[in-house]
Amino acid sequence: MYSRVGNYRIGTFAEYISVNEADLALKPKNLTMEEAGSIPLVGLTAWQALVEIGNVKKGQKVFIQAGSGGVGTFAIQLAKHFGAYVATTTSDANIDWVKKLGADLVIDYKVEDFETKLSNYDLVIHSNRDTKILEKSLRILKPGGQLISLVGPPTPEFAENIGLPWYLKLVTKLLSFGAKKKAKKLDARFLFLFMRAEGSQLGKISQLIEADIIKPVIDKVFPFEQTNAAMAYVESGRTKGKVVIKVK
Ligand SMILES: NC(=O)c1ccc[n+]([C@@H]2O[C@H](COP(=O)([O-])OP(=O)(O)OC[C@H]3O[C@@H](n4cnc5c(N)ncnc54)[C@H](OP(=O)(O)O)[C@@H]3O)[C@@H](O)[C@H]2O)c1
Repeated sequence: MYSRVGNYRIGTFAEYISVNEADLALKPKNLTMEEAGSIPLVGLTAWQALVEIGNVKKGQKVFIQAGSGGVGTFAIQLAKHFGAYVATTTSDANIDWVKKLGADLVIDYKVEDFETKLSNYDLVIHSNRDTKILEKSLRILKPGGQLISLVGPPTPEFAENIGLPWYLKLVTKLLSFGAKKKAKKLDARFLFLFMRAEGSQLGKISQLIEADIIKPVIDKVFPFEQTNAAMAYVESGRTKGKVVIKVK
């Protein structure tokens, strides 16, 4: 079995952790333990953004930022499986292998402005904290299009879903006011996703992996003793796919 542990639980850098059975799914038979460990967080994030919220359909245009990152590498493969046309951003060194993952259009964000190349998109998976990138990403949407942000600002709908008290709901209303207003002006929608553990969705992901439709992308596996180095590497923001810590 494998799992993303539920929110507010910590302790995955350990031999054992208790997990809610509803969060578990059968580990894909064709993956090693290290490969399986790389999947739940990014797989569920991509699934919830593209399938659960985005309802991605064949022929739709999807822009996935940072296609060479953990979420991006998974989301590209998933969006292609659902028949979408996928545009993404990365830097020069990663362009070829990101194309091999299935991306139809790869933009080198260091030399090109994606806003000049993309228009009329149905969906944007937004993972960049720069508000200018958020505004540009809203402008490439078609009327009725949706931007799903993985990096905030959090919305009152999110606050409601996770049962935050009224005063924190108010804070999220203030925080997301600008992004929502800009989206509304463009006849688009701004949504915030904070992924959650969900065994049933992870089971569907396992099936896609066993059918060789989605492959894990692992940059490095660090031994447990080098956990600090692994965290520093992740924080560099330059990783290609996922970084895994091998406990045993
Ligand atoms: N809300 C949620 O539930 C949720 C879930 C998962 C992740 N997240 C968030 O989503 C973000 C992405 O996560 P991740 O794990 O995929 O990140 P990651 O793996 O650390 O991303 C690293 C990749 O980002 C690329 N990159 C860096 N700056 C870029 C830019 N300006 N434009 C395009 N690509 C760029 C890098 O490519 P180059 O080396 O070529 O620059 C690198 O390959 C993070 O902020 C994370 O915290 C949120």
